[in-house]
Amino acid sequence: MKDTSANTDAKRAAGAAAAELVKSGMVVGLGTGSTVAWTIKRLGERVKEEGLDFLGIATSFQAENLAIESGISLTALNQHPILDLAIDGADQVDGDLFVIKGGGAAHTREKVVSCSAKRFVIVADESKYVKKLTWPVPVEVLPFALRLVERRLMELGGKPVLRQGVRKDGPVVTDNGNFVVDTDFGVIEDPKGLAARIDPIPGVVEHGIFDNLDELFLARAGGVERIRRKR
Ligand code: A5P
Repeated sequence: MKDTSANTDAKRAAGAAAAELVKSGMVVGLGTGSTVAWTIKRLGERVKEEGLDFLGIATSFQAENLAIESGISLTALNQHPILDLAIDGADQVDGDLFVIKGGGAAHTREKVVSCSAKRFVIVADESKYVKKLTWPVPVEVLPFALRLVERRLMELGGKPVLRQGVRKDGPVVTDNGNFVVDTDFGVIEDPKGLAARIDPIPGVVEHGIFDNLDELFLARAGGVERIRRKR
């Protein structure tokens, strides 16, 4: 969805609200994208204004750069393998809090970081919140395995499209050196079942279906609503 000013305000509201969850002493996963960028900026302000003292773990080169610019101290998963909290954006979230991520091709690291966290929070504007997921599922693929993975995704009923670079000829290459295949499955009635069928395909590095969301910070017209997982 193209950003409008209302949309930007909503993203900022959701992003900034979640930044209040961070306390000194925490290790926090910093997600990727335009919504969680507001969380990172707000955390940088809190570091300067209140002396908030925490360590971030970035999910992408973009998040790392923004955290550094914002004055946030970073650490590595290798050094801090258990996070207190991970905050990230989403492409779609359904009524059961299943999520599709990977619009920025960062979902593999985002999944590793969020699964390493005791609590996973997503920040989003209302346009992302849907009854059923329909967003094409980003699948990160080892380049060597591209054709096999495409064929298996088609056997599962998907329509895979190799993501192309912008101002770069040829496919997008992720921060991990792989390709991304955006795979349209139409309306996804059973996200967990679909995830379980994509997982074992040889050459799939990671797909963008997440089932580990604890709480959604959703910016609506009247303010930021917090929706907790019931599953
Ligand atoms: C990155 O790969 C994605 O998972 C992003 O977190 C997602 O696309 C959300 O981005 P926006 O907040 O920019 O919509």
